[in-house]
Amino acid sequence: MKQSKIFEPIEFKDIKIKNRIIMSPMCMYSAIDGVVGPFHMAHLGARAVGDVGLIIVEATAVSPEGRISPNDAGLWDGKHVEAFKPIVEFCKSCGTVMGIQLAHAGRKASTNVPWLGEKPLKFTEGGWQIQAPSPIPFDEGYQIPKEMTQDDINKVIDDFTNAAKRADKSGFDIIEIHAAHGYLINEFLSPLSNKRTDKYGGNFENRTKILMEIIESIKSVWPSNKPIFIRISAVDWMEGGFDIESSIILAKMLKKQGISLIDCSSRGISPKAKINIYFGYQLDFARKIRQEAGIPVSGVGLITQPEFADFILNSGIADMVEMGRELLRNPYWVLNAAYKIGTDIQWPKQYLRAKR
Ligand SMILES: Cc1cc2nc3c(=O)[nH]c(=O)nc-3n(C[C@H](O)[C@H](O)[C@H](O)COP(=O)(O)O)c2cc1C
Repeated sequence: MKQSKIFEPIEFKDIKIKNRIIMSPMCMYSAIDGVVGPFHMAHLGARAVGDVGLIIVEATAVSPEGRISPNDAGLWDGKHVEAFKPIVEFCKSCGTVMGIQLAHAGRKASTNVPWLGEKPLKFTEGGWQIQAPSPIPFDEGYQIPKEMTQDDINKVIDDFTNAAKRADKSGFDIIEIHAAHGYLINEFLSPLSNKRTDKYGGNFENRTKILMEIIESIKSVWPSNKPIFIRISAVDWMEGGFDIESSIILAKMLKKQGISLIDCSSRGISPKAKINIYFGYQLDFARKIRQEAGIPVSGVGLITQPEFADFILNSGIADMVEMGRELLRNPYWVLNAAYKIGTDIQWPKQYLRAKR
């Protein structure tokens, strides 16, 4: 019987995760007024049955105006808690730890769902006023965002905090703050999208201020025995943008704040970014952050093979491996990986007759 690090449990605060595989947060654009439904039960439930260690539920908007599309999941109201509860309960009954990504889309809000073109929505098409650190549109054809005032910033901090409270009430054990992919927090972090001259713009400390304030505020309501993760875009892939050196400094600050893991993604601040994509193309960012900041990290991006996942974990590149599209293609990836590698793991009792 071969042992693989994939199946080695890991603990963050009081939360024990049975293996090292994370289902990466993926917007399904299938909620109504932010409310998740039967699709989400089937979608997330299948990956829990498939033995994923940690599911991080899709980018979930902390306010209606923070949605990417009208069909994003939300956590700005008690009705969202009621919708999430049975899904979280079922997935946890499979032994999967449930996390949720809390998000605000900033200047990339108010767009159509991908299968309708992912284009900015006009007000006449159900779109809404968008906001960002500076009045710079994401791309041609996008709305010019409203430059956020101190009141707007305070509201966003409150919205994240209240969403964290609701995540706890829903039964989630981990929250991940979405500070990546060119959405609101990333827009504050990046010098390309943040041209403010007040205390939230200019130098590195000022650009990271909103994230630090959000974390401080969330910590006042989120149980101290449950972990908080942060997803960052480790690099903008743009000249003059957020870079790996900035990410390492940020990771050190986040470690001091008690953040349990940095989820190392990249890109999203501009459609003009030139990205070099290959298998595991973001892993070197994870490795550097882990090494230099001494904080647990997850690696993500075009990881599909169990042997590759095992290598990432064994070579110390990352503490957890995160998969998106491969888990959409194959919800039973973990069960199949155990068979392929030759490790004996517990199968769902209902599926035992199919165990290989
Ligand atoms: C359908 C889809 C939706 C996504 N939605 C999110 C999201 O809500 N939040 C996020 O941080 N990343 C999102 N991503 C990015 C994934 O989490 C992941 O980082 C990316 O797909 C790279 O991993 P992969 O190559 O394993 O798919 C999404 C990706 C896909 C394919």
